[in-house]
Amino acid sequence: MFKVEAIVREEALEDVKQALFDIEVRGITVSQVMGCGTQMGYTHYVRGSVSTMTMLPKVKFEVVVSTEAWADKCIAAICTAARSGRVGDGKIFCYEVGRAVRIRTGEEGVDAIQPGPPETDEDE
Ligand SMILES: Nc1ncnc2c1ncn2[C@@H]1O[C@H](COP(=O)(O)OP(=O)(O)OP(=O)(O)O)[C@@H](O)[C@H]1O
Ligand SMILES: [Mg+2]
Repeated sequence: MFKVEAIVREEALEDVKQALFDIEVRGITVSQVMGCGTQMGYTHYVRGSVSTMTMLPKVKFEVVVSTEAWADKCIAAICTAARSGRVGDGKIFCYEVGRAVRIRTGEEGVDAIQPGPPETDEDE
């Protein structure tokens, strides 16, 4: 299993969500986060020296998928949906995931992240 974590612009939220839905990713966590990249938000100069980093609001997607091929698909979809070409478009990190558990059933591993039988498809 692999986790794809993508930090994108707030305005990319809907496009990224749709892109993941379109490739049939089911199961997403989205958070509002603050952060900065290599430009450190903005560069402030105080008496001639760089003062501090500015954290800018961003949106973070977390998706756990079963295989590296699925992670590749997610990464490609997110890049296409979130790229404006300007600095600050965001960043994607991908990790191997050791364990997953579906709380309702106790299923573990890949079984825990696959859709269940039809009667369990109504997410709450
Ligand atoms: N190395 C990092 N570790 C953790 N989070 C990061 C890192 N780099 C970027 N981020 C997160 O991603 C957001 C967007 O980063 P950003 O797109 O500005 O990266 P960048 O490397 O500066 O690329 P660019 O030059 O295109 O701006 C940041 O606000 C921060 O939340
Ligand atoms: Mg940047």
